[in-house]
Amino acid sequence: MKRYAVCGFSVRAIAQYVVPLIGIPELPEYGDFSRYGKVVAALDIDTERIKIFNERQKTIIPAYRPEEFEKMIKETEPDALIVAGADFSHAQYTIAGLKHNLDVIVEKPMTITSKQAKQVIEAERKSKGKVIVAFNYRYVPAHKYMKKLILEGALGKITNIEFIYNLDTYHGASYFKRWNRNRKYSGGLSIHKSCHHFDLINWLINDIPDTVFAFGALNYYGPDSPFNPQKKSKKKLSKEEIKKKCPYHLRWEGETVPVPENIRLKVYKDAFYLPYKVQYPEQLYYYDEDIDIEDTYSVAVRYKSGASMTYSFNASTPWEGYILGINGTGGRIETIQISTSSDRCPFPKPERQTITYIPLFGTRQIHDIPVVVGGHGGSDHVIKHDIFVSPTEESKKLGLCAGSIEGAYSVAMGEAVWMSAKKGVPLKIDDLLK
Ligand SMILES: NC(=O)c1ccc[n+]([C@@H]2O[C@H](COP(=O)([O-])OP(=O)(O)OC[C@H]3O[C@@H](n4cnc5c(N)ncnc54)[C@H](O)[C@@H]3O)[C@@H](O)[C@H]2O)c1
Repeated sequence: MKRYAVCGFSVRAIAQYVVPLIGIPELPEYGDFSRYGKVVAALDIDTERIKIFNERQKTIIPAYRPEEFEKMIKETEPDALIVAGADFSHAQYTIAGLKHNLDVIVEKPMTITSKQAKQVIEAERKSKGKVIVAFNYRYVPAHKYMKKLILEGALGKITNIEFIYNLDTYHGASYFKRWNRNRKYSGGLSIHKSCHHFDLINWLINDIPDTVFAFGALNYYGPDSPFNPQKKSKKKLSKEEIKKKCPYHLRWEGETVPVPENIRLKVYKDAFYLPYKVQYPEQLYYYDEDIDIEDTYSVAVRYKSGASMTYSFNASTPWEGYILGINGTGGRIETIQISTSSDRCPFPKPERQTITYIPLFGTRQIHDIPVVVGGHGGSDHVIKHDIFVSPTEESKKLGLCAGSIEGAYSVAMGEAVWMSAKKGVPLKIDDLLK
């Protein structure tokens, strides 16, 4: 049974790793991998989160602070680290784990700068440990389906990709009330969020990014937001007054939706609702002065093979998901994924995603993608199996497990996006990663 130490006791860490390794019968959708591994330690700037979790779950996970990393390793002798705290903390724990020859499972993004990504690759080169970057997005059934079509040669030589990804006004806005809104903590959304998208395309087309050019701006959030009630008021408004006039708040939080207080909901809240006293000593809001990242990007990418991509990102749209087209000398794949939940979607949401394949000189084929239950389109469960048990035959065939090199390319692309937008020049990925 493998022994895991968790660095960063985040919601993601709890949902994707801690709860599955404990196995909570009332939360079956998170899986039960308790036969394969055990959480032997957890480290966080806020050890109260770990202590409260232990009290509620009757677990005895020892809690450590960041400066006690070495103590934690000595006392609890883990075989592997799970690095899943705020993004800026990933590099430090990943490198520290590799120095102890431990395997490291790191949440996306692997790091928040190319410089840190190079340091991780270098640390891995000197270590007996291996890095797995938890790119669950690859595991979404529609993405595996597209990968299979591409591997079968349906597209011939890939020529260009059209990728539009939008976050809705509920989910997109949430990043501006959390640590993600500061570049020093998240690298910005072109790293924190778009690394998923860049990795997806890099993996699907099996290519290496070469050059990135981008425009970007902060259009919806921050003090200059057109929605900021403070801009229209002569007197200084309190946070509560701002909220009452804020369209995001009025749309999503204005009315209290009655939630039935059943046993399952209590179990869910007990596991995931932990206070963040250290991370958020005070409430953050969409229009705060310190927001320093972009919410909108238009990007052009050239790949080493000569293929190119246009990528568009917006963090405040009426529905969430993507529109994707991949063209090649053999034909075209196109698909729309609507990930806004049905109750938030401003139109009737299709029940399932379809992948349309049109041979260049042939008839359109529409492939229905089966609906899989579970987090992030069913991907979360499958990646857990690959991580805690072993990669399935399908995972090996499709190359689903991502390592540090892939982690680094996705970070470098995200960094190139915001830097290109700031400087107004194209950037070479090799220059960032050399
Ligand atoms: N793969 C996915 O689909 C997916 C989904 C959600 C989140 N994530 C990733 O998981 C990670 C956590 O995200 P979240 O939204 O669950 O976070 P969160 O805000 O719930 O938790 C962050 C945690 O990190 C801790 N922390 C902050 N600084 C730290 C430091 N220096 N050392 C140790 N701990 C520190 C905080 O106290 C907090 O407990 C992020 O990297 C995010 O990108 C991935």
